[in-house]
Amino acid sequence: MAYRVLGRAGPAQPRRARRLLFAFTLSLSCTYLCYSLLCCCDDLGQSRLLGAPRCLRGPGAGGQKLLPKSRPCDPPGPTPSAPGAPSSPAAAAAAPAPRLPAANHSGSARLGTKRLPQALIVGVKKGGTRAVLEFIRVHPDVRALGTEPHFFDRNYGRGLDWYRSLMPRTLESQITLEKTPSYFVTQEAPRRIFNMSRDTKLIVVVRNPVTRAISDYTQTLSKKPDIPTFEGLSFRNRTLGQVDVSWNAIRIGMYVLHLESWLQYFPLAQIHFVSGERLITDPAGEMGRVQDFLGIKRFITDKHFYFNKTKGFPCLRKTESSLLPRCLGKSKGRTHVQIDPEVIDQLREFYRPYNIKFYETVGQDFRWE
Ligand code: A3P
Repeated sequence: MAYRVLGRAGPAQPRRARRLLFAFTLSLSCTYLCYSLLCCCDDLGQSRLLGAPRCLRGPGAGGQKLLPKSRPCDPPGPTPSAPGAPSSPAAAAAAPAPRLPAANHSGSARLGTKRLPQALIVGVKKGGTRAVLEFIRVHPDVRALGTEPHFFDRNYGRGLDWYRSLMPRTLESQITLEKTPSYFVTQEAPRRIFNMSRDTKLIVVVRNPVTRAISDYTQTLSKKPDIPTFEGLSFRNRTLGQVDVSWNAIRIGMYVLHLESWLQYFPLAQIHFVSGERLITDPAGEMGRVQDFLGIKRFITDKHFYFNKTKGFPCLRKTESSLLPRCLGKSKGRTHVQIDPEVIDQLREFYRPYNIKFYETVGQDFRWE
C-alpha cells in the first residue's frame, strides 16, 4: 500500500523524495525475494541454506559418538544383508563386586540393521570367553549378542535368517559379534562358519588345559553335586596313567586337535588367540590385541579396568550404559574344587605334547608348563 501511495507522487516530487522512494522499493523487493526462496526450499522438506536434517536419538539410544554428524538416518526396521558380508575392517578395589548384566547393554539397540556376525568368539569353554565378550562390547564399534545362540552346533537347522534375527542392530561402521564356546570343539562348525562367510574373524580364548578342566568340573559339580570325583572321571586307569580322553572336560583342552579342523577352512591369520591367564593379569593389554585383530581403534585401555579385591579379578570401571563399576557374575571366578596334586601333575604330563604342538602351530608360547 505504502509503495503505491508513494509511487503516485511521481515526477511532481522533488529529487530527494524520488531517491527515497527508489531505495524503499528496492529494499521491499529484496525482502520479498529472500522470503520466497526460503519458503520454496522448506516446501521440499529440507533447506539447502539450513543444511541436511540430522537423525535424532531415540529414547535410551547410546552416545552421540555412534552417529557421525552428517550420517543419513538408518532405517528402523530389519533389512536382510547378504550372508558372507565382508568384515570391516584401584580406587574402587575394595568395593563389593556388582555384576555385569547378561543382556546386551548396547545403547544403540534401536538403530541400524541386524547383520550376520563378522566376528565370533568360538572358544574355549571356561577359558575366559565371557570376560572377553563383556570387555569388547564396551567398544563403540562393536555390538554383541549377550546370550550364546549355539547356531553352528545345536541350532543350525533353523537357518541363517533365524540366526540373523537374534543379532543386535548395528550401524555400517560397527562389528556384530557373538560368542558360543562350544563351537571350537564342534566338528561341523568350521565348515558351517566358512559357508556363512569365509571372512569371519575368529577369537579363541585359551587357558592352561589342566586349570580349564578343573574349572569345567567345578561348574558341573555346582549343578550336579552327585557326579563322581574329578580324579575318578579323569582316568580310564589311574595306576597306568591312562587319561580318559572321552571325557569332555579333558578332551576340550587338547586344543591342537580341534584347531586342525579350523585350519582346514581358515588361515591362521584369521584366528586370534587370547591368553586366559593374561586376560586376568593384564586385561587392557590382551584387549588391545583383540581390538587390533578386529581392525578397530584401541578404545579399551587401562582406564577401563580396576582390580576388585573382593572378586579377585579385574572388573570394568564402567560400561557403555552405566557409570558404575561392573564385575562378571558369581559363576565366573569361582573357587575351584581341591584336586590331588599328583593328579594335577599327571594331567600336566598328559597335556605337555599337545601344548607344545599347539604353541608351534599358532607361533605363541602360552607357558602352561
Ligand atoms: P573360573 O570360574 O574357573 O575362575 P568362561 O567365561 O569362558 O566360562 O570362563 C570363565 C573363566 O573366566 C573363569 O573361570 C575365570 O577364571 C575367567 N576370567 C577371566 N577374566 C575374568 C574376570 N575379569 N572376571 C571373572 N572371571 C574371569
